[in-house]
Parts: sequence; structure tokens; C-alpha cells
Amino acid sequence: MIKNTLYRFRNLSIIAAGSVLLAACGQSGGEANASGDDGAAAASTESSDIVRASFNDDGSVNIPTGYRQWVFMGAPLTPNALNGGEAPFPEFHNVYIEPSAFAAFEATGEFPEGTQIVKELTTVRSNNNADNGSSQEVSGVGYFQGEFVGLELTVKDNDRFKDEPGGWAYFSFGHKAPPYEKTATAFPAESCNACHEASAETDFVFTQFYPVLRAAKK
Ligand code: HEC
Repeated sequence: MIKNTLYRFRNLSIIAAGSVLLAACGQSGGEANASGDDGAAAASTESSDIVRASFNDDGSVNIPTGYRQWVFMGAPLTPNALNGGEAPFPEFHNVYIEPSAFAAFEATGEFPEGTQIVKELTTVRSNNNADNGSSQEVSGVGYFQGEFVGLELTVKDNDRFKDEPGGWAYFSFGHKAPPYEKTATAFPAESCNACHEASAETDFVFTQFYPVLRAAKK
């Protein structure tokens, strides 16, 4: 069963890589990835139809492709100006869920095995440099997104991550401007998982900050 899924993922990766070449665009792989090999994954709740992350023999995970075309969940912001000048993550946090996992969540209200969620950080745009780090734009004074500066991933997989509470493993491809690292190894549970377990509303995911997920949940 698991082997089967891995093989399917490899096939999908090849399709994805092909379409990247064809389109000569780094983001186009996601469409092939997201739709599944029979085009029906989005409507299915079978865990074998969930598009899986790709792992290497040493246990590291490969950076997902096409994630900016996944379902956008939200963009929390904890700016330095509101955190004594030292927010741990002063950037916008753009959060996306892989579409087949989103479809299963919509159908069942639960995150299926294989769920992938990414969080990509972007700087707060600085224009006319107000003391509070805000920006003056045509729509008004406020906080606007600048440049990409980091990528994190969480994957739910109770077979692969038996020792992680809830089966959720957490990864970072770098807290820096692209290009990001191509692979990442899971953080120890106390670095990431513990805070998610303690404070996230739904199965380690902070649905309290994501209206898109709350609306989807039956
Ligand atoms: C102190 C608590 C805390 C710790 C520690 C923490 N997170 Fe989170 N994480 C959050 C909160 C709160 C959110 C909700 C969105 C936001 O504010 O960015 C979140 C959201 C996420 C998301 C989006 C999915 C979700 O669950 O909402 C990912 C991916 C993520 N974190 C990865 C990590 C990684 C990787 C680490 C370890 C390096 C980590 N987190 C450590 C609090 C934490």
C-alpha cells in the first residue's frame, strides 16, 4: 500500500518535472502534482489518493514543488514593531495546504495521512520607513508583503513518524532568501511539534487563524 503510494508519487514527480521543463517555469509543477494521476484525487477521501511528500533514503524530505499553487490558508503577521523589536518571525507567514489534503479535510473535517502544509515567509515591505515598520501605499498606511525569506513544511504521516506526537513532523528549508535548501531533516519534537500540540486548535494545525479551513470544515 505504502510502496504503491511512493511509486505513484515518483510518477507524479516525473510528470511534474516534465511540465516544469515544458513551461520553463519553476512553479508549474504543482498542477500536475496536485491533480493526481487520474485527475480525481481532489474529490477523493482515500488516503492512498493524497499527494505525498517525497522522502530520501536518509529520511530527509525534498522541497515541495508548486506549493504556491496550493490552497492558500492565510497570512499571519507578527511584526517587530508589536513585539518589542524582536519578533521570532517578524515576517508575513503565508500558509498553503496541498490540494488533495484540503479536499479530504473538506469532506471529513480531518487532516488525512500524508497532509502537507507549507509556511513561506515574506519580509514586511518597507516604504517611506515609518518607525513602526509600516509602509505608505496608495491604499493607506499599513503592512505589505516584501520578498520571500524562508520556507517551512509540516507533514502528517503516522507510519513514517511513529515517534512524533500526532504523526506530524516539521521541517525548514532555510530562513533566508531563495534559493532554499533542496532537502530538510525533521526537527526534534520539542523544537516545533510541542508548541503546535499545546496551542493549535485542530490536530496540531492552527485553524483558529485560518478562516479558509474553518469554513471548509464540516
Ligand atoms: C511557540 C510556538 C510555535 C513553535 C515553537 C513553532 N510553531 Fe509553527 N506555528 C505556530 C503558530 C502560532 C502558527 C500559526 C501561523 C503563524 O502564526 O505563523 C504556526 C504555523 C506553522 C505552520 C503552518 C501550519 C500550522 O500548523 O498552522 C508550519 C508549517 C509551521 N508552523 C512550522 C513550524 C516549524 C518548522 C517549527 C520549528 C522550527 C515551528 N513551526 C515551531 C507556533 C509555533
